[in-house]
Amino acid sequence: MSTRPRETVLVIDPVDVSGQQARKLLAAEERRVLHASSAQEAFPLLAEMRPDLVLASLDLVDLPGLRVLNALRTRLPGVPLIAVASHPTVEGAVQALKAGAADYLGHPLSPGLVSEKVGRCLTDLRNARSLAAARNEAKDRYGFSDLLSRSPKMLHVFEQIRSVAKTDATVLIRGETGTGKELVARAIHERSRRREKPLIAINCGAFTETLLESELFGHEKGSFTGAIGRRQGVFEMADGGSLFLDELGETSLSVQVNMLRVLEDFTFRRVGGADSIEVDVRIIAATNVNLEGAVKDARFREDLFYRLNVFPILLPPLRERAEDIPILMHHFLTDAAREYDLSVPTITPEALELTLRYRWPGNVRQLRAMCERWVILCAGGELRREHLPHDIQGGAVVTENPGAVFIDDSIPLQQLVDRVSNQVQRAYLHRLLTRYRGHLQQTADAAGTTRRTVYTLMKKLDLDAENYKG
Ligand SMILES: Nc1ncnc2c1ncn2[C@@H]1O[C@H](COP(=O)(O)OP(=O)(O)OP(=O)(O)O)[C@@H](O)[C@H]1O
Ligand SMILES: [Mg+2]
Repeated sequence: MSTRPRETVLVIDPVDVSGQQARKLLAAEERRVLHASSAQEAFPLLAEMRPDLVLASLDLVDLPGLRVLNALRTRLPGVPLIAVASHPTVEGAVQALKAGAADYLGHPLSPGLVSEKVGRCLTDLRNARSLAAARNEAKDRYGFSDLLSRSPKMLHVFEQIRSVAKTDATVLIRGETGTGKELVARAIHERSRRREKPLIAINCGAFTETLLESELFGHEKGSFTGAIGRRQGVFEMADGGSLFLDELGETSLSVQVNMLRVLEDFTFRRVGGADSIEVDVRIIAATNVNLEGAVKDARFREDLFYRLNVFPILLPPLRERAEDIPILMHHFLTDAAREYDLSVPTITPEALELTLRYRWPGNVRQLRAMCERWVILCAGGELRREHLPHDIQGGAVVTENPGAVFIDDSIPLQQLVDRVSNQVQRAYLHRLLTRYRGHLQQTADAAGTTRRTVYTLMKKLDLDAENYKG
């Protein structure tokens, strides 16, 4: 016995004959079949009947032609509709399909055809539903708002979001580009008491100093050339809600002074305005620059840094949570396949291994873009090593795990030698830097070379001594 609930098919047709015919036919397949002879009879009961499929006549007296399809489509989104015409024509079929019908049938109804079309529509529906269920399951299992992860470092971040969302504390989200800072900001807002109020985001790096002042605080008419009317700034727009100050590290010192002043008591004046305005706003700031470094170089005000750094959240780069890569890839590949209406490629173990070892400097955003490209490149087929960009293919020894050696014979020998040479040097320096905690002189001594050479090599190989300290 099947445990699947019976599916409900609704027939809306004035010709009860077709209703009877269809009922007999469809009931034979263990489906619940309901009949209505007019829109008036059917529509008030739609919510109660919850049909999985509707066969609708295009010859209803109270809702003739395609209007019935349009009305059903808005009331039953996602439910397949089969149009039934008393006098079928090719033109009619084209129009019905254009209006969103999944199929088109004509009287007299042929039992075989009805059964086949209904069967196909319901199978498609079932597949779509189980795909959606699988996606939701992945989200429930590995997801937190829109963030997917199962790595301990990110689970810690989720925990932080959960606790800080309950408060109004200022949050400073830090992490490399593409690590999900904006998603974290949204998750905090959505879980806070302010969720019904707006979350306003502003990219502070995208404006000149004058424009940024007016974007933040608004301006009065005529306060500067181009200020043709009074305008609200984001602090006012976010009143009662949250304000996401993105790329805060890019702001000028004078904007930082004004920002600090507002954050002290949440009152400010519009540019060119006299009245003091008070707002109730929760601040979430984000940056991908090293703010301590910027403070040291006097590019970022120390007092503002402390004012913002009340509750810091650090997003780890993707390479430090490689266990997330398969989950994210699955999610992005499925998403892109749906968007482009293509099938999801399968990934060969070798290709997967290479993506796991890659450094992903653009983090999750880069992985997402790559997945879109892969869906297009290998729709429905296999994603193999040769589909990967050269820097992901690697071609030889890989940093922290020199055990595996691939010889990539698809590139010129010299290129392979250079690549291997870089990778060996990188792996070697990585080990010494780890051992000597980023101390360049000790690393140079152990390597039998000069500090200067080590320094130059690290620049070339994109190694940062900071990462090895502490
Ligand atoms: N854990 C995650 N799960 C699902 N999608 C993610 C995750 N992290 C990031 N993304 C996706 O990656 C992309 C980049 O994320 P986001 O814009 O939040 O990064 P960011 O840290 O703000 O980057 P930038 O510093 O460049 O502004 C977005 O498309 C986002 O949806
Ligand atoms: Mg961002």
